[in-house]
Amino acid sequence: MAKIGWIDSHCHIFSDEYRDCFDEVIKRAEENQVVQMLGICCTIEECEWALSMEKKDEIDIAVGFHPSDIKVACNWERLEELTRDPRIVAVGEIGLDYYWDKDNKEQQKEAFIRQIELANKVNKPIIVHSRDAMQDTIEILMQHSCNRKGIIHCYSGSVESAKILLNLGYTISFAGPVTFKKSVTPKEVATMIPLDRILTETDCPYMTPEPFRGKRNEPSYVPYTAKKVCELKNLEEEAFQKACLANYQALFHSEN
Ligand code: NI
Repeated sequence: MAKIGWIDSHCHIFSDEYRDCFDEVIKRAEENQVVQMLGICCTIEECEWALSMEKKDEIDIAVGFHPSDIKVACNWERLEELTRDPRIVAVGEIGLDYYWDKDNKEQQKEAFIRQIELANKVNKPIIVHSRDAMQDTIEILMQHSCNRKGIIHCYSGSVESAKILLNLGYTISFAGPVTFKKSVTPKEVATMIPLDRILTETDCPYMTPEPFRGKRNEPSYVPYTAKKVCELKNLEEEAFQKACLANYQALFHSEN
């Protein structure tokens, strides 16, 4: 990694949302000192499109079946093939979402565990989505450890849960909500997370940070979230950037 700058460790830049403006979105990110992006693909098609593009060092790719999508038939064989591609740095996003789906909890758990096992098989870290399901998420991660660990993305849980996840070896990533005036817990969590286990993200097109809340999100907005975390941790921007880059490299670009 040559440049120092901001990281968007979770962006859906390969979704249909950006199909017509991909180059401009990436250009705006670069103009705003975003030096590393991890594009999360939730479908086989998105991932195939991502892999069809020319390789860029500042854009990594992850693929996995999102808990809200596993009701429909999933092509598990193709997923495994894709995760073996050297350009795929992680399996995700995977996890549990009881906010949108309460009626298929067992199915969600099964798909989550199956994808943790897949990550271990292909020796890659995981990107974890957990919404209104922290207790079950922690239980699964305790019983089914990912060898390369990974990220709990857009973290929205309590300080206590964060401590458990840190003890399990995971990295905590913050998105737009940490910039919202009324959000208290994400700010408390950001303040206490050790610098070697923290990352930032947009989760675009959703979760737009202040002052753009209400607009469509994109990677060029990640500095607003990152600067808020810097402020909460009382850190110089460059020190924070260096720490996040080191965390990112350790997770995705070191063959341990
Ligand atoms: Ni996401």
